[in-house]
Amino acid sequence: MRIAILYASVHHKNTEKLVKAISEKYPDITLIDTTKALMISLVGYDLVGIASGIYYGNFHKSIYTFITKNLPERLKVFLMYTCGSDRPSYVENMKQFLAQKNASVVGVFSCKGFDTFGPFKLVGGLCKGHPTEQEIEEAVQFAEKTIEQNMTISI
Ligand SMILES: Cc1cc2nc3c(=O)[nH]c(=O)nc-3n(C[C@H](O)[C@H](O)[C@H](O)COP(=O)(O)O)c2cc1C
Repeated sequence: MRIAILYASVHHKNTEKLVKAISEKYPDITLIDTTKALMISLVGYDLVGIASGIYYGNFHKSIYTFITKNLPERLKVFLMYTCGSDRPSYVENMKQFLAQKNASVVGVFSCKGFDTFGPFKLVGGLCKGHPTEQEIEEAVQFAEKTIEQNMTISI
């Protein structure tokens, strides 16, 4: 089974902490930093994770660009994000976008991430210390469960 995780983590590498912990457990997963990679074919992948911090209410813009160019139709995807203050619209926006590719979203994970954007910097930031070790472990467990539930045999 071929799995990739696309990620963008530009603020404090909060999301990268989750992704790297998953990759330590599953070293065969292909990690793609969408802020650096423009074109990588995802043809042949069975499951794709999309992980990002939330910036102005959305996943990072490089994630959208990468998906537009490289995500094949009808793939199974799971979403992961870190944010200062969670809202249902973050996932809804991404789900709506993914509908263009007829992707099926098979799981969503989110947790808090240290946030020093704008005025929050003046008060030492929001969600200091997040993601915590516990949240990182929960992210790994989420990935484990999602992979198990969507296991396919590659020949
Ligand atoms: C420019 C900018 C905009 C942000 N906008 C939001 C937002 O709309 N909603 C929110 O909950 N957090 C927002 N945040 C906080 C980040 O989503 C949060 O810190 C996240 O964990 C960053 O992930 P990263 O370190 O992986 O980049 C914003 C942060 C930045 C820098």
